[in-house]
Amino acid sequence: MSSLAGKTALVTGASRGIGRAIALRLARDGAVVAVHYGSSADGAERTVDQIVDAGGKAFAIRAKLGVPGDAETVWAAVDEHVDGVDIVVNNAGILGGPTPFADVDEPTYDEIFSVNTRTPFFLIQRGLSRIPSRCRPCVKTATGPAPTSALTSATRSAQTGRQQRTVSPAAAQCSSSRPPS
Ligand SMILES: NC(=O)c1ccc[n+]([C@@H]2O[C@H](COP(=O)([O-])OP(=O)(O)OC[C@H]3O[C@@H](n4cnc5c(N)ncnc54)[C@H](OP(=O)(O)O)[C@@H]3O)[C@@H](O)[C@H]2O)c1
Repeated sequence: MSSLAGKTALVTGASRGIGRAIALRLARDGAVVAVHYGSSADGAERTVDQIVDAGGKAFAIRAKLGVPGDAETVWAAVDEHVDGVDIVVNNAGILGGPTPFADVDEPTYDEIFSVNTRTPFFLIQRGLSRIPSRCRPCVKTATGPAPTSALTSATRSAQTGRQQRTVSPAAAQCSSSRPPS
C-alpha cells in the first residue's frame, strides 16, 4: 500500500515548478491532491492531468493569494471537494528578482510579504479545524536557501521562526530545507 493512501494534501502554487513536482510526488505516494493555482489555469490542469494519467487523484482550485480573504477562498474551494486535509504545503511564493536593497519600494515590500508570509500564516490558522492535530507536523512552508534579495530572505526568516512558535515544534523540523539551528 502507498504510504499516503487515504490522505489528502493541499499544495499551493502547484501549477508549475516546485509545487507541481511536490504535487506529483504526493500523488504518486497515494495522496489525493488539491492543486492550487493563482492565474495559470492551464498549468494547474496539466498538473491534475499528469496525476490522473499516472493513476492518482487530484483537483484544481483557484485563489489569488496576497489579497484580503485569500485563506478563506482557498479553504472554501477545498471544502467543495474533500472533507479536511492531512498535509498542507505552503509552496506558493514570490522569489523576487535581484532587486538591490536600496531600490525596494513599499508596494513591492507589501506584495512579497503578503504572499510569502501573511498568506501562509492565515492559511494554516483558518485551516486548523480541517487539519487533524496529529497531522500538524505535516505543514510545510517553502523557505529555501536561495533568496535573491534581502527582502525575500526576510519573508523566509519570518516564516521559519513563526512556524516554530505557532503550529507545532515538530513542524519546524519539516519547515525548511535546512535543519533549524
Ligand atoms: N526556484 C528556486 O530556486 C527557489 C529557491 C528558494 C525558494 N523557492 C520558493 O519555492 C516556491 C516555489 O518556487 P518555484 O520556483 O517553483 O516558483 P514558480 O515557478 O514561480 O511558481 C510559483 C507558484 O506560486 C503561485 N503563485 C505565486 N504568487 C501567487 C499569488 N499571488 N496568488 C496565487 N498563486 C501564486 C503560482 O501560481 P500561478 O502561476 O497560477 O499564479 C505558481 O504556481 C516559492 O515559494 C519560491 O519562493 C524557490
